[in-house]
Amino acid sequence: MTSVGADLSRSDGPAKVAGAARYAGDFAAPRMAYAVMVQSTIAHGRIVRIDTARAGAAPGVVLVMTHANAPKLAQDPMHAEPPSSRAVSLLQDDAVRYNGQPIALVVAESLEQAQAAARLLHVEYAAEDAALDFAAAKSGAYTPKELAHGEPDASWGTADAALEGAAVRHQATYTTPMEVHNPLEPHATLAVWNGDELTLHDATQGVAGVRKTLAKKLGIAPEKIHVLSPYIGGGFGCKGSAWSHVALAAMAAKQARRPVKLVLERTQMFGPVGYRPPTEQTVALGAARDGKLVAIKHDVVSSTSTFEDWTESSAVLTRMMYACPNVSTTHKLIKLNLGTPTFQRAPGEATGSFALECALDELALKAGLDPLELRLRNYADSDPESGKAFSSKKLRECYARAAERFGWSKRNGQPRAQRDGRWLIGWGMATATYPANRQPASARLVLKPDGTALVQCCTQDIGTGTYTIMAQVAADALGIDAERVRVEIGDSAFPEAPVSGGSMTAATVTPAVLAAARAVRDKLVALAVNDDKSPLHQSSADAVELRDGWLRLRGETARGEPIPAVLARAGGKPLEATEEAKPDDAVKAKYATHSWGAVFAEVAVDPDFGEVRVRRVVACYSVGRLLNAKTARSQLLGGIVWGVGMALTEQAHVDRVSGRVLNANLAQYHVPVNADIGELDVTFVPEDDTTFNPLGARGIGEIGITGVPAAIANAVYHATGQRIRDLPITPDKLIGATSA
Ligand code: MOS
Repeated sequence: MTSVGADLSRSDGPAKVAGAARYAGDFAAPRMAYAVMVQSTIAHGRIVRIDTARAGAAPGVVLVMTHANAPKLAQDPMHAEPPSSRAVSLLQDDAVRYNGQPIALVVAESLEQAQAAARLLHVEYAAEDAALDFAAAKSGAYTPKELAHGEPDASWGTADAALEGAAVRHQATYTTPMEVHNPLEPHATLAVWNGDELTLHDATQGVAGVRKTLAKKLGIAPEKIHVLSPYIGGGFGCKGSAWSHVALAAMAAKQARRPVKLVLERTQMFGPVGYRPPTEQTVALGAARDGKLVAIKHDVVSSTSTFEDWTESSAVLTRMMYACPNVSTTHKLIKLNLGTPTFQRAPGEATGSFALECALDELALKAGLDPLELRLRNYADSDPESGKAFSSKKLRECYARAAERFGWSKRNGQPRAQRDGRWLIGWGMATATYPANRQPASARLVLKPDGTALVQCCTQDIGTGTYTIMAQVAADALGIDAERVRVEIGDSAFPEAPVSGGSMTAATVTPAVLAAARAVRDKLVALAVNDDKSPLHQSSADAVELRDGWLRLRGETARGEPIPAVLARAGGKPLEATEEAKPDDAVKAKYATHSWGAVFAEVAVDPDFGEVRVRRVVACYSVGRLLNAKTARSQLLGGIVWGVGMALTEQAHVDRVSGRVLNANLAQYHVPVNADIGELDVTFVPEDDTTFNPLGARGIGEIGITGVPAAIANAVYHATGQRIRDLPITPDKLIGATSA
């Protein structure tokens, strides 16, 4: 193996930098028209009338589609089959369920004409009372049927009794706000009909899911739909489902009898395409004098829409993080008149690790223990819930390595003890974790007569480096350079693969690539050893190795020939294979599979103004084998940056009267910029989790955000003596309280 693990730059980088990579919104088609999505301006009620006369007569307008004239669909759009098929608004009735719900599409010759005409729509509503207040809706909290992963409630032992009798106790409620994904590339769909066949250029994390969803919603055969998504400008979960605009574009294109492009505006990204819901999490911890946990309770309430259940599974990680004999975890939902929330980078773990890891920090203080020592005393060597062994866990090594690089041993445990000039300096830490997921996937590999290879698979690269690692894996299996492997993905016509979500793509797709490459390799070697003109004739196939584009006899490097020579004599035709790779059920039954990390943060807090600067984050991860050291590190860096935003700045504010997101733009919804990010030190513990998959790799897309908000909140406490349990930690929550 030479390519796998190397710090290769991403193969799609040059095309992206040069502007040659075409994203969904960059595509065009002959006679293409432009659509604008019109949204409701009330949070709940009915549409009494939409006057389309002026909009319809405006220059360039091709179609005004409302519930009055939209095609009637085979399936009720409210029928949801998560994750890809969601309850969506496809203009089938007059109901308004949230502010910002799509209620019409205006299609025109140009984007500007469509935008101008959209403003001429006159909508009359019959408004009804809307549920918009989280606190007020809490009396109606209910237990959802299921979570994306796991049961809503799980418990063992007797948490209440154990808590009662615990020598050291801590209980508090932690809250996190609505957060919005905000990938730089907005959602975008170009729908092109050719007879009864539909081609969609869609900004999606799952081309197969979009195809399946559209087939059902529109009532056509999946084979008639072709979905393309070669490049995605960030997904983070919001592009994991086919939201309303995808089907609406297809419906409008059908009705207008011409291609229709619909690109959402930034403002439209706040509501109808998912978000991370607000959570209220109560954590109770009980420990013996020595800090050993005797009880953990974690009760979560998050909000969903009035028409679909989606639960932020914040307490799921609490079931496996620490060894504890008495654990109780629950999830409840409340319904609000908002769009449905969805997966957002480390859904559950990002918010849950904030609550749990802050609570541990608070417990450590009460127990008089160093926060790291408390975690070590409660280290889980096996999965506390199932008793299963972990496929591989090197969290101890992560703690040690990150602590050492950070200089944690020099920490004075006393809050407000460290200063740098007028700034209060604080150090905090937390544990990071995310499940290692894997699903079946297939890949096709073609070895061409010139010795280059082509890999095809209907997976997606959402900016993580999927193109590059697929080439690396194929290259090693064939003994050629990664630059000689062309990877084609993001096309529903290719062999099936799941959504690029749940941090599962690397571990899901590369085993399929490896299997296909090995199958082709075997065919190639068979050709050589069976060919009397080959120098390898009558050699044992097992004795032949592929390296530097040559087939050679192992240990006898003089005997061999280049790949093209073998193929040329065999008729100059390519060799190909399509293989499926699946997770092993026996492994699943025996092992729990998770990734781990230790995060240490240093903050500086202005004692007068409450401004928090994150000076450095030092993190070390146990994520299996790295398939590409560079893209892997980038994933973790990006996750940590998002963690800084989650800790300090990100929050969507919903107006409690109108139900509208008040800061639905990137000027007022604050994500970190370069100036907000200090030194980031990311390292990995060497690891090879071949129990989990043949490449030894676990997913890394999401773990980076986890633990970071807690590490920062804990550092803020250490700096100021102020415990902020409500994200984001904005200056208003610290101001005044910080002055000595
Ligand atoms: Mo991720 S939130 O599963 O795209």
